[in-house]
Amino acid sequence: MQDRHILLIICGGIAAYKSLELIRCLRKDGAEVKAVLTAAGEKFVTPLSVSALTGNPINNALLDHEAEADFGHIELARWAELIVVAPATADFLSIMAQGQAPDLASAVLLAATCPVMCAPAMNVHMWQKPATQRNLAALVSDGVEMIGPEEGEMACGDFGPGRMCEPDVILQAICARSGVPATGLTAIVTAGPTRESIDPVRYLTNRSSGKQGIAIAAALAARGIRTKLILGPTEIVPPAHLQTISVTSAAEMHTAVHEALPADLFVACAAVADWRLAVPHEHKMKKRGREETFTLELHRNPDILASVAKLKGNRPRLVVGFAAETENLIGNARHKLASKACDWIVANDVGAASGTFGGAHNTVTILTDQKTEEWPTMTKQELARTLAGRIQSTLTDGRDQDQLDG
Ligand SMILES: Cc1cc2nc3c(=O)[nH]c(=O)nc-3n(C[C@H](O)[C@H](O)[C@H](O)COP(=O)(O)O)c2cc1C
Repeated sequence: MQDRHILLIICGGIAAYKSLELIRCLRKDGAEVKAVLTAAGEKFVTPLSVSALTGNPINNALLDHEAEADFGHIELARWAELIVVAPATADFLSIMAQGQAPDLASAVLLAATCPVMCAPAMNVHMWQKPATQRNLAALVSDGVEMIGPEEGEMACGDFGPGRMCEPDVILQAICARSGVPATGLTAIVTAGPTRESIDPVRYLTNRSSGKQGIAIAAALAARGIRTKLILGPTEIVPPAHLQTISVTSAAEMHTAVHEALPADLFVACAAVADWRLAVPHEHKMKKRGREETFTLELHRNPDILASVAKLKGNRPRLVVGFAAETENLIGNARHKLASKACDWIVANDVGAASGTFGGAHNTVTILTDQKTEEWPTMTKQELARTLAGRIQSTLTDGRDQDQLDG
């Protein structure tokens, strides 16, 4: 991030305190930061703290005759190489989506030609409101990249999506957007559940949220690994900079993965349904008579992980599978490692008590042929970054070895 010009817009939400830490992270990474606070933003963090941390004076007024003698809002827009709105309030997303410019922050945004990223933060019901979702969709289609929000407990006591991402997660997204040097490595990551159609209105699926796989794809991309994310149906919006191929069923995911090859790395994080109906019913199935039981004949889905790990010519150099288990975690994971012929298994307990499916944290054990390594509980983002670091050094060491051998 050395010398990159980042303009931070801080809106009026509880999460504004996290933006102070974000400024510290950005500056530690070498970026030059200027900030604009909305009038509400100033009620949550003081201009004095923001200006002390950015090392730049702060001016929040649009109709300021001194600053605007040089067209201050246009100058700021020209100066910025990237604008980050954090926290982005429901109100400010609405102003942005409508292209309004009632204050300095929104006027700068309207005048800017650089990329814009938003880290939304709001109460779960504000987030889920159709108006907010409409604004969000409009902004995403205008090219604004959303970072989060995350799901979790809120300051108001509610629980759900709407919490602003932690500063290190925002920093990671900013680094990815700002273009880290390409490593020349390529990766395919699957994430989310699959959905197997029963009839036009019903389907079989599972509780996977896609959060862990999306975080892994983002962490790999942030390291300069060209990553394709193959994503099953999920409510989480992946970062816009990730190349994402959306699929529904296991068969579609299988095809998409094989079409995306070759790659140096394959991470199979998706919770792929094991079974499907051979042919989904054309019309909605009706209850007939008074039957008390009902049987569906299910057929085995293609095994995506094994089909890639057992490839002869096109096999990625590193194949990493996930084992989601509710009992005998290590025994089942070791069996999976051998039977699927992959290089590593990331084993995680997804029993109801673990809170892993859909939750913010994960506790995993990494298994290879030689080793079993227990990792401490981490957020899914932390786990993704740690795993991406381990993967990169393994692939890079392998490449050095290849070169020495060659
Ligand atoms: C204590 C408090 C906390 C608030 N937290 C949020 C929040 O997290 N997200 C949000 O969208 N609005 C929040 N609001 C409402 C905004 O502050 C309000 O909509 C304001 O007009 C936003 O202005 P801005 O978008 O110009 O910053 C909060 C209000 C109060 C009083």
